[in-house]
Amino acid sequence: MLIESSPVQLSKLDLAIIAMGGHAKFLRWWNAIDDAEAKLRMAYDWKWRARPKQLPPLGDWATWSCRCGRGWGKTLTGAEWVRWRVEREGARRIALVAPTAADVRDVMVEGPSGILAISSPWNRPEYEPSKRRLTWPNGAIATTFSADEPRALRGPQHDSAWCDEAAHWKYLEDAWDNLQMGLRMGDPKCLVTSSPRPLKFLRDLEAEQDTVTTIGSTFENKTLPAKFLSRLLRNYEGTRLGRQELHAEILTDNPNALWKQETIDRYRVRGLPEDLLRVLISVDPAITSNPKKSDETGIIGVATAWCKCHDGTPEIHAFVFDDRSGVYKPEKWGEKTVQAYDEALADLVAAEVNQGGELVERNLRATRGGKNIPFKAIHASRGKQMRHEPVSNLYEQGKVHHVGRLSRLEDQCCQWDPTQGGTSPDRADALTIGITELMLGESTEVGTVEATVIG
Ligand SMILES: Nc1ncnc2c1ncn2[C@@H]1O[C@H](COP(=O)(O)OP(=O)(O)OP(=O)(O)O)[C@@H](O)[C@H]1O
Ligand SMILES: [Mg+2]
Repeated sequence: MLIESSPVQLSKLDLAIIAMGGHAKFLRWWNAIDDAEAKLRMAYDWKWRARPKQLPPLGDWATWSCRCGRGWGKTLTGAEWVRWRVEREGARRIALVAPTAADVRDVMVEGPSGILAISSPWNRPEYEPSKRRLTWPNGAIATTFSADEPRALRGPQHDSAWCDEAAHWKYLEDAWDNLQMGLRMGDPKCLVTSSPRPLKFLRDLEAEQDTVTTIGSTFENKTLPAKFLSRLLRNYEGTRLGRQELHAEILTDNPNALWKQETIDRYRVRGLPEDLLRVLISVDPAITSNPKKSDETGIIGVATAWCKCHDGTPEIHAFVFDDRSGVYKPEKWGEKTVQAYDEALADLVAAEVNQGGELVERNLRATRGGKNIPFKAIHASRGKQMRHEPVSNLYEQGKVHHVGRLSRLEDQCCQWDPTQGGTSPDRADALTIGITELMLGESTEVGTVEATVIG
């Protein structure tokens, strides 16, 4: 069941505000009253501060899934819900579960939106980190758990559970099952606050009869700094990452696409290894000086290094570390390519010349700094899908790692459907040029450099 807002019982005070004609008039009244205690109580009343979607839904639900974007206010909503359960609904045994022990302590309990920060001075729980326990003056107890250790959730019984960032739990199914087995005291309720990932678990959970789901976008939280919001819009709006992280969509891959987001995510690394064998900038140039929006020049950085595969055998892996693609005029893509080459201390620029012929190299040579760059012209003879397939196989084998997130490239790879005909997208084309050259081409390096373990 999906709800957009949660109707709550209005208190007499809420009704008074409405009767007074809105917030501005209420504020004037508020400033005029000198009952400090009444003021303080209202300041700590979540009903007054929450956006409607942050209030617990009415009704007989078992799980409330708050699937919302980054910075929406998930943690604050969770912490306030725990207070709500203790102060208004008689909860006595609460489980607090986060991806790791550090998260549960630093975010759920001690964080700026955590339980200690939002508790009122007259009903503040005592926190005993060594016992992983919060105790309220009325005897209610919350125990902290790390989803990294699902076994710890086997045994204890609870009447409430708050699961933060559940989509990012390492042992999600185990931790969830153990938690649910023990959620059997009183009228048990569970709140899941998380930004989504493309997980069947989440879809199944939200499809359950007794789950209510609130979906919220980052941009609903007007307390976030305007600069931060406009940077997010600039960088992520319209990307799959933005749809997931900001608008909280559970993404689905195109089943016909050659690449799968899950595979890219699984082998992603944070940084490049130190000892690189080769570093290449691959280019798929748009051959027109009057580019349309659809004509991007793909400019991708790929490197290779020795890695240990799962059984310890050294093998060469590829690392995709840069994406400077965009809609450029020739002189601009030349400039971007030379910059990428210089910054990466690359040893080659490889570019597809099927359409541009000699013009491609000439353009690079005419660019400042491009005169002496080692250049390889790639004449692609096979069809696009034929060229992409061996590359996507290397991804499946865990031999290609993306260094950090390369959202727009990954979107193109995971959305392009070769069965629909049409040309493959330019970033993916440049990627395939680079990986083919380094991993599948004749010049694939089989050197004697020491093995490097992926960091
Ligand atoms: N209703 C509200 N009133 C005032 N401030 C709010 C409200 N909701 C959220 N905030 C503020 O917005 C900021 C982000 O909130 P919070 O940390 O709970 O978001 P989050 O969704 O958990 O973020 P993240 O995705 O980083 O985990 C905090 O400073 C919090 O106090
Ligand atoms: Mg949070």
